[in-house]
Amino acid sequence: MFKSDFLWGGAVAAHQIEGGWDQGGKGVSIADVMTAGANGVAREITAGVIPGKNYPNHEAIDFYHRYPEDIALLAEMGLKAFRTSIAWSRIFPKGDEKEPNEAGLQFYDDLFDELLKHGIEPIITLSHFEMPYHLHEAYGGFKNKKLIDFFVNFAEVVMTRYQKKVTYWMTFNEINNQAGGHEALHNWTNSGVIVAEGENAEEIIYQASLYELIASAKVVALGHQINSNLQIGCMMAYVPVYPYSCNPVDMMASVKGMNLRFFYNDVHARGEIPAYTLNEWQRKGYEIEYTAEDLAALKAGTVDFIGFSYYMSGTVTANPEVEGHLIGDGLKITQNEYIKASDWGWPIDPVGLRYVLNVLEQRYNLPMMIVENGFGAYDTLEEDGSINDDYRINYLTEHIKQMALAINEDGVNLIGYTPWGIIDIVSFGTGEMEKRYGFIYVDKDNQGKGTLARSKKKSFAWYQEVIATNGGSL
Ligand code: BG6
Repeated sequence: MFKSDFLWGGAVAAHQIEGGWDQGGKGVSIADVMTAGANGVAREITAGVIPGKNYPNHEAIDFYHRYPEDIALLAEMGLKAFRTSIAWSRIFPKGDEKEPNEAGLQFYDDLFDELLKHGIEPIITLSHFEMPYHLHEAYGGFKNKKLIDFFVNFAEVVMTRYQKKVTYWMTFNEINNQAGGHEALHNWTNSGVIVAEGENAEEIIYQASLYELIASAKVVALGHQINSNLQIGCMMAYVPVYPYSCNPVDMMASVKGMNLRFFYNDVHARGEIPAYTLNEWQRKGYEIEYTAEDLAALKAGTVDFIGFSYYMSGTVTANPEVEGHLIGDGLKITQNEYIKASDWGWPIDPVGLRYVLNVLEQRYNLPMMIVENGFGAYDTLEEDGSINDDYRINYLTEHIKQMALAINEDGVNLIGYTPWGIIDIVSFGTGEMEKRYGFIYVDKDNQGKGTLARSKKKSFAWYQEVIATNGGSL
């Protein structure tokens, strides 16, 4: 049911797995100043690293030192691909230097060699919520156009260095999380931006987003010049937006909700700013800065494939009488009575994945890779050391079945699947260790206590079988 070269893999991000936050010449990143939150409690973004605060990404699961052991386990599972990111501040500790940090470059050389030794293809995100903190402090993050050049320089260095080891690249992780500018956490992690009181968050984030999209397009074009074999994609978070009812106003609300996401993907894939966004800027009086040269760069750097994450669907209404939380322009996200949620309130909707695959196939007609999908849950360690994570196996089984339907019945061009947090890592949203996604357990709790020992969950053997049978076991 899946092509023989289908990329079965697993995914993580540097800041959530590596640790070694101040080693090998690495600079402070924006993830290094995020404290631990909890389920329902936001993480704090501090002004620099403050002694005595709990920063879970500083050690994470110590992959920086333990990666050979971890990669051996991933190889035992049968992984064909491993998605991680390059911590920008390992290569350029402050972000604006001319010369890269050789120790950082060597670390990724060694890591990629270890993966390739086991026949695992590295899939690399250039920026996964971990830009150098200095770029926020000195420039205000991606509000500042200068960041385009810093990012392009970083990308040029790593793409040149690893061109023979890495074929698949993505530019900015979940670039659309920040849409609308409503969430301080996303403004920070996507753009290194803090919106001051009284400022228009939406306008600021549109500007920062456009600079990122220009930077991304430049990197796509440059990457192709460096080596025409490189496949360079975008990375979108797809939470499809359903209409709450068949009332036409709810249907239009869902179109608008989807456009908030499509803005990013349309620029990445079609190389131009869509009319619905230009009209919105004009209607709201936003003065978004760009030049004719920027528009040409967008056109010249359209992506080769679409990478995206899928965890859940959302439901939207424009009906003022229905309860929900406002996401702008009168749109409210509300409950979907047909869908249950995880312990963290994330709606579980496997069919939504097939829906997204169809929508993207019809809209862009490009190869696609699901580079994140998974189930964050509390796991119980039994007395004999086993972890029976049937809930995770069920979640993944149902999603993979929908992928198969999308390929075999709907004809979508899906080339890979890298479930999120293949080994337990620090949660991005809450900073917890106990929101676990892994098929491999890591002995560490929310307080940072534990031996960091790795052990296999029930899902380990399950996924091993899925890969070995190319999905046939499901
Ligand atoms: C995505 C991110 O938003 O979802 C990951 O790309 C993140 O970095 C993942 O970890 C799951 O979110 P969380 O908050 O459960 O870790």
